[in-house]
Amino acid sequence: MNIHPEFHRFLNRHDKENLLKQKGLAIWMCGLSGSGKSTIANAAERVLHQQGRFTIILDGDNLRTGLNTNLGFSDEDRLENIRRIAELTKILIDNGVIVFISAITPRGELRDLARGVVGEQNLFEVYVKASFEACEKRDVKGLYAKAARGEIQHFTGKDGSFEPPQNPNLTLDTEALSIEEAAIELLETILPKISHA
Ligand code: ADX
Repeated sequence: MNIHPEFHRFLNRHDKENLLKQKGLAIWMCGLSGSGKSTIANAAERVLHQQGRFTIILDGDNLRTGLNTNLGFSDEDRLENIRRIAELTKILIDNGVIVFISAITPRGELRDLARGVVGEQNLFEVYVKASFEACEKRDVKGLYAKAARGEIQHFTGKDGSFEPPQNPNLTLDTEALSIEEAAIELLETILPKISHA
């Protein structure tokens, strides 16, 4: 009520993509904490950056220190977390940006929400696959040990649910692939989708 969004007067996605000589795309990387989402996104982004492409990484951990600082890990808060990330992603791809999203996005409902906001054709879903046990072994941030001691509630894969994606556009198994191999596979797959006609 009483808001008057104006979209048509502004420069549009096409104008921005022509300037950047690329196509906007959301590369939505989901998977357990410690599965390798951010590390692969970082490796892939560096290659694209060297090629002169404009990219942004939206990282769940980082966003929770700012935009999403008031959110925790209940189902409700995760839904709001993903909704905000998806809305931000939409703005960015509408401006021609290649966006990597690194967020656990643990349930189908959350991934459907993201797809609905961003648009099916704009979202490339990547499942960064590693078992709970493998992530627990890596435990880069020490969170699995804390969760095992009962110091973290709703921990994904423990007392917080994780539903593996049913039909991702790409699965990167980080128990089988090195980070470099995973990044190369990701880049080869997305290249046709981000290349300017
Ligand atoms: S999501 O489920 O809402 O998509 P998001 O990716 O933003 O999660 O944040 C996950 C990060 O928060 C993890 O990588 C980890 O560092 C941290 N974290 C803190 N508490 C939890 C928890 N209970 N479950 C999972 N991750 C947690």
